[in-house]
Amino acid sequence: MKRKTEIDKLEREEHLEREEWIELLTGWDEEDRAYAGERAREISHRYFGNRIYVRGLIEFTSYCRNDCYYCGLRRSNTKACRYRLPEAEILSCCEAGYGLGFRTFVLQGGEDSGYTEDRMIALIRRIKALWPDCALTLSVGEWEEEAYRQFYEAGADRYLLRHETADSVHYEVLHPSDMSLAHRIDCLQKLKAIGYQTGCGFMVGAPGQTGGTLAKDMSFIEELHPHMAGIGPFIPHRDTPFGKNQRGSYKLTLFLLSLLRIMEKNILLPATTALGTICDRGREEGVLAGANVIMPNLSPVAVREKYAIYENKLCTGEEAAEHMDRLQNSMRNIGYEITFERGDWKERQREKGKERTRQWNINMISCRR
Ligand code: 5AD
Repeated sequence: MKRKTEIDKLEREEHLEREEWIELLTGWDEEDRAYAGERAREISHRYFGNRIYVRGLIEFTSYCRNDCYYCGLRRSNTKACRYRLPEAEILSCCEAGYGLGFRTFVLQGGEDSGYTEDRMIALIRRIKALWPDCALTLSVGEWEEEAYRQFYEAGADRYLLRHETADSVHYEVLHPSDMSLAHRIDCLQKLKAIGYQTGCGFMVGAPGQTGGTLAKDMSFIEELHPHMAGIGPFIPHRDTPFGKNQRGSYKLTLFLLSLLRIMEKNILLPATTALGTICDRGREEGVLAGANVIMPNLSPVAVREKYAIYENKLCTGEEAAEHMDRLQNSMRNIGYEITFERGDWKERQREKGKERTRQWNINMISCRR
C-alpha cells in the first residue's frame, strides 16, 4: 500500500492539498483501492446503513442544441435518433414508476428547445400535483437563473448538472467554444442558492483528463459540497470526435467513488449505468466502493435505445425499472437493501457546507481566469 497516509488524512480532514491529490490519484495501487473501499463502506454504513436509494430515470428528450465532443446526442451527430416524449407519455412513465414503488423521478434530457421554459413549468406542476409525495429531479442542462427559479417554484426539488471537468482548459478540450466552465459553475452556484439539492460530476477517463485535472475535480467537489455527485467511466461513441478514444478505467472509477465517499461522507453517490455498462458487476462493485444510489430506467422501452449518449448503454436488465426484483436480489447478495424512501439530503448536516460555499465563491474567482 502506497497512499495510506493520504487516504487517512482525507478521512480525517476531508481535504487534501493539490500535491497530495496528485500523488494519491497517480500513485495508488490495488491495496490502496481495497483500503479506500473498506473505509468508504464503513462510512456509508454509518450514514445510510445498508440502504440503497433508487430514482426512476425518465429520458424524455434526445434532442440537444449542444455539441459536446464526447456525447452521442451532440447536435452534429446526424445519425442519432431523436425523440421527444409528449407530456402524457412522461406522466405514464411516472404512473408506472409510482406503481413500482418509486418516490423520486428524474427528468433527464438534452438541452431541447422544443421543451420551452413554459412547457417545463407546466410539466413539473403536473407531476407534483399528481404525485405530491415524490421528489422531482431535473437533469436538463444550462438555463437562465430565472428559469431555474421558476422550475423550483413549480415544485422541482433537485438538479443534476455535471461540471464535467473543473479545469477550464480541459473543459475546452471536451466542449466547443460556445460552452464554458465559468458558465457551468455559475449555473451550479445559482441552483444551490435557489435551494435545489444539487449534483455535479464528471466522467472518469474523459479525453485529456490527467492527475492534475482530476485533482481539480476533487477539490471542486470539496468546495461546492454538493448533495450528489455522478461519476462514471467515459465510454466512446463511434459517431463523435472521440469515437476512437479509450474508455475510462473501471478500477479508477471505483477508487474515485470511494474517495468521494471518504471526503463527502453523507453525499448521495450513484453507481451509474455507465459503470454497469463497462462491467457486469459494475453496479454491485460501485455499491461496495461506497455508492448508495441506483437510477433504474423508467423511459418507455421503445425509446431507450435511442438515448445513446455512449455505445451499448444498458437499458433492459437490472437497470430497467420493470426488473426491480433482479436489482433487489443483486443488492441482497452483497448485503444491501433497495429502499423506496425519497432519501433527501439531511439538513442537519448542512452547516459545514454553507461555510464552505462562502469560501468557494472567493476561490472560484481565481479559478475562472
Ligand atoms: N461516456 C460516458 N458518459 C457520458 N456522458 C456523456 N457522454 C458520455 C460518454 N460518451 C455523461 C456526461 C453527461 C451525462 C448525462 O452523461 O457526463 O453529463
